[in-house]
Amino acid sequence: MAKRDVAVLISGSGSNLQALIDAVAADPDHPARIRLVISNRPGVKGLDRAAAAGIEAIVIEHKHFHDRAGFDAALDAALRARGIELVCLAGFMRILTAPFVEAWTGRMLNIHPSLLPAFKGAHAIDDALAAGVRVTGVTVHYVVPEMDAGPIVIQAAVPVQPTDDAASLARRIHTAEHRIYPAALRWAAAGHVSLGDDGRTRYSGPAVAVNAVLISPPAIG
Ligand code: GRF
Repeated sequence: MAKRDVAVLISGSGSNLQALIDAVAADPDHPARIRLVISNRPGVKGLDRAAAAGIEAIVIEHKHFHDRAGFDAALDAALRARGIELVCLAGFMRILTAPFVEAWTGRMLNIHPSLLPAFKGAHAIDDALAAGVRVTGVTVHYVVPEMDAGPIVIQAAVPVQPTDDAASLARRIHTAEHRIYPAALRWAAAGHVSLGDDGRTRYSGPAVAVNAVLISPPAIG
């Protein structure tokens, strides 16, 4: 089966980009090919990661555009010019306009560091700590115009230790992200997951084992 051409949009470190690159590279029969990386910021580590993997990497700086519509039109043109079929947002810190999102409905995924719909927004890890939850997590979802509100593809629960600070929780969150985003990309590229006309996520792949219940903290004293 032909591989699906994928673009990854980033704004920073790109550790999730790296996880996707590694997963694709590890499997010659992977259903995806990462064809393009776009950053809205120059000089970020994610661009180096793309270059090291031999992937075309371009910068489209949002500040060079008068408005969001102009920036999104440039993104759209870059994606279409390369025949991109699937877009992964991976730490891409720009709000996208509704027309752009609608043009890519069912073909654009995002990863968010919480168990959505809890802790939407740019401070999900800090917000989870402040709320004192003992379990948070990570979510990959289809992108819809409303931020962090799209149909969920996959989630992983992450325990919050009573001793956690933002850095230690972020490390645990990232470990989970690097496991589930490659899974979501594989499923989406293979057609095992899709967005139905009813706005709900559909699964058609092989069944997977159900994990044990996570209880956090497991014990005290
Ligand atoms: C991740 O925590 C992701 O959930 C959020 O931004 C962060 C990006 O990290 N949307 P990285 O650039 O992939 O390392």
